[in-house]
Amino acid sequence: MIVLKSTREIEGMKKAGELLASVHKELRKLIKPGVTTWEIEEFVDAYLEKHGATAEQKGYKGYKYATCASINDEICHGFPRKEPLREGDIVTIDMVVNLNGSLADSAWTYPVGEVSEQVAKLLEVTKTSLYLAIEQAKVGNRIGDIGHAIQTYVESEGFSVVRDFIGHGIGSSIHEKPDVPHYGLPGKGPRIKEGMVFTIEPMVNIGAYQMKMDSNGWTARTVDSKYSAQYEHTIAITKEGPLILTEQDE
Ligand code: MF3
Ligand code: CO
Repeated sequence: MIVLKSTREIEGMKKAGELLASVHKELRKLIKPGVTTWEIEEFVDAYLEKHGATAEQKGYKGYKYATCASINDEICHGFPRKEPLREGDIVTIDMVVNLNGSLADSAWTYPVGEVSEQVAKLLEVTKTSLYLAIEQAKVGNRIGDIGHAIQTYVESEGFSVVRDFIGHGIGSSIHEKPDVPHYGLPGKGPRIKEGMVFTIEPMVNIGAYQMKMDSNGWTARTVDSKYSAQYEHTIAITKEGPLILTEQDE
């Protein structure tokens, strides 16, 4: 069942989203060679507490941390750790903020210092695919139009789209209906309606789309060890079009 949200509920989620966006803006300044994802984790946890919010991922299905920190060939659900980031790495920081019971979810991939030209292109293409997908998220379209926009663009740039993890509805819990795949056919899937709130979160690989699971049971990596990037926003469907609840206004 797809739960539609009231204007008031969306207002609450927008406040959570604004706080989440402000965390990402701080991370832009913080992430550089030598910093550890453990320091990022501690920063995020303290920042949320200071602003009266909590990290919804902590304790979710046994996950222990406020953030997921996925480095280089890690697709998602990397654990924060004490090993320093190095020049040329990329790191995806994903988090879900709970502010007064309202949730918002956003991931962003950061370059660490200078990255190679190919990796810079990976980041650019992945981010662009998210915004192309958001344009499709309007009343009357179908969920399949979102994935189709991502897949056709990403593949035309020579990269691949991860199939094993998808966007999702979000409301009183992190994962609700609808499922939002980042690949697929136009005109397929549920119709997009006013009041839906869901994430779009393409994970894009330089090489093959397939993943392998780490022995920790959480962290997914690319099968060929090539780099993977991800950008994620939480969006609300309004009469006027998609409203990005986690926008960072560059
Ligand atoms: N933020 C993630 C998403 O985009 C959810 C992470 S699940 C967790 O779907 F267990 F790692 F928290
Ligand atoms: Co997320």
